[in-house]
Amino acid sequence: MKTFLCSLLLLCSVLHIQAEDGHQLWLRNKKALPVTVNCALNSPTIAIAKQELIQGWLGKAGATISLVIKKDKALKKDGFRLLNNAIEANTEFGLLYGVYELLRKQQTGQLIQEMVSNPSYDIRTLNHWDNLNGTIERGYAGFSIFWRRDNPYEVTENDKKRWQEYARANASIGINGAVLNNVNASPNILNADYLKRVKAIAEVLRPYGVKAYLSINFSSPKVIGGLPTSDPLDPAVINWWKEKAKEIYGLIPDFGGFLVKANSEGQPGPQDFGRTHADGANMLADAVQPFGGIIMWRAFVYSPNDKDRAKQAYNEFVPLDGKFKDNIIIQVKNGPIDFMPREPFSPLIGAMKRTPVMTEFQITQEYLGHSKHLVFLSTMWEECLQSDTYQEGPGSTVARCTDGTVFNQKYTAIAGVSNVGLDTNWCGHDFAQSNWYAFGRLAWNNSITSEAIADEWIKQTFAGNSDQPSKTVHGIDWTENVLVPVKRMMLDSREAAVNYMMPYGFHHIMSANEHYGPGPWWGPARMRADWTPPYYHQADSNGVGFNRTKMGSDAVSQYKEPLASMFNDPSTCPETLLLWFHHLPWTYKMKSGRTLWDDICTKYDQGVKQVRVFQKIWDGAAPYIDSARHKAIQRKLRTQTANAVLWKDACILYFQTFSRMPIPMDVEKPIHNLDEIIANDMVRRRPGS
Ligand code: GCU
Repeated sequence: MKTFLCSLLLLCSVLHIQAEDGHQLWLRNKKALPVTVNCALNSPTIAIAKQELIQGWLGKAGATISLVIKKDKALKKDGFRLLNNAIEANTEFGLLYGVYELLRKQQTGQLIQEMVSNPSYDIRTLNHWDNLNGTIERGYAGFSIFWRRDNPYEVTENDKKRWQEYARANASIGINGAVLNNVNASPNILNADYLKRVKAIAEVLRPYGVKAYLSINFSSPKVIGGLPTSDPLDPAVINWWKEKAKEIYGLIPDFGGFLVKANSEGQPGPQDFGRTHADGANMLADAVQPFGGIIMWRAFVYSPNDKDRAKQAYNEFVPLDGKFKDNIIIQVKNGPIDFMPREPFSPLIGAMKRTPVMTEFQITQEYLGHSKHLVFLSTMWEECLQSDTYQEGPGSTVARCTDGTVFNQKYTAIAGVSNVGLDTNWCGHDFAQSNWYAFGRLAWNNSITSEAIADEWIKQTFAGNSDQPSKTVHGIDWTENVLVPVKRMMLDSREAAVNYMMPYGFHHIMSANEHYGPGPWWGPARMRADWTPPYYHQADSNGVGFNRTKMGSDAVSQYKEPLASMFNDPSTCPETLLLWFHHLPWTYKMKSGRTLWDDICTKYDQGVKQVRVFQKIWDGAAPYIDSARHKAIQRKLRTQTANAVLWKDACILYFQTFSRMPIPMDVEKPIHNLDEIIANDMVRRRPGS
């Protein structure tokens, strides 16, 4: 046995077979060629930049590269210029980003030309919904890399190694901020012991240009400060926050600032004291302002000022436009409800003209199959960023309304709710890494295409470790069997998920609490209506969909013309959003010439078929992908297909109880029984089961 193991080990080392576990992300071992790197400056960041070039260089063997800090008006703070044998930037972080860009181009076989690159947003943050006990809200990749229940304040070498790897991955795609704790924030995060740990994390992130931010709980002055109130206009409260900011900046001089979820889903906020969101945000903004900090104030609120939840954030925030201090950015989810598979863009974007607005995307797949489904979210974010708000005339896209092009903003920013956890492969699903990657790339360049992102990611993630040219980025076989089909699969995957979960503008019809499977039936009387699916789909024997037209909730009027009229009329409303804006009869005639009912069934069926194609594509890639990752992904695709069938069967059978129409002949017949699906869903939901 011993001899057998020894020979196996020897064989592996001879064949350069590497254990693959996805931990290296898109930053994989390369067989670097020799290069000399010059830089007049010495710093931890420059040391990283040099090291990266030396260990990853795939350009001309023996080349010399100079890293030069130089004032250059064409460059923004983090921007860089790639030259023939040099990288220039205004700052050392700019140089580091330039190094990663150069290496990415080498590794993905792109032409390297002189170029200038500036980020679309100044602040490119990940939001970690990590709790101080180590769990992660909506996290599907293990426990937190930052916090843990046992020995919560101890910082181990292992912790630091993880943080360093995390920071490196972020820097490689341009992410420069991390909010380290859940938006549903524990006040304890601001206690001295936790702040010491934040300091330790910030020190590891710093050389990679990643700033630490914290989510705060608005009641902190009362809960941990011993004050009788947390009223933002109370002098003792104001002073408490000022002192707290001073304490934090004393520990972490480059601390980024606070993220705040206030008066939302039971979180405390200024409205508890009869104050406005602006009162609360301004008070915090004053506290961090002397240190250059910012406040990211979330607009994810539900105030009962309108029966349609989709209208609430707009109603609440637009009247406050212009009332916020200039170091505040309003953080708005991409859609008006909550990270659904498809939503129109949030009408707040572009509507607040005197207040900077940033978009919040969700990288973790809360409503898109957790870490079990392969869903490349880049196309969804691209769709949002390229949506035209028309707020300042045609071309006022979400991207341009948030990156400082349309409105003059002191700060520009973008946020993504992270999918990172302690799992070896970081994200649970190897393909979920592509969403972390895509978020960073779009935050750097909000007009890059999803196709370009997928192309880069596939090449960096799956190719390059083989000695056989046909199996590398440059091989024709590899291109035909991996690059082209896998890219197609990624680019189709979000639409497939929309099709088998919530086509034609359906939204919020998932199973309660866990948000994974279908649950359009769930609506206990004791529950607030706008947390239940029937509120959103409004199915009855006459038809289905939420009437947000001028004759309904009038949410369409929160959009600028020509959008308001376009959304208002079912014949001009994009069919992808039909049931978001309209309640229509089951027999409504669709563009296909068929009934709404028939098309709904067909879309669900199409979604399932698409996932089956993904399985085939992935099987075909087997000879080119290391077997550990190949098998793991294959298993996940099986789970995804089964879940897609469940979604299809459940939704078709449930909605059929209202439409009372037959399932079209060409649609695969359900293999599940509705009563059983509902019964299983209820069992799953019972606490403790
Ligand atoms: C969703 C999610 C919550 C989260 C909330 C938020 O509702 O289910 O877990 O706290 O969004 O964004 O604040």
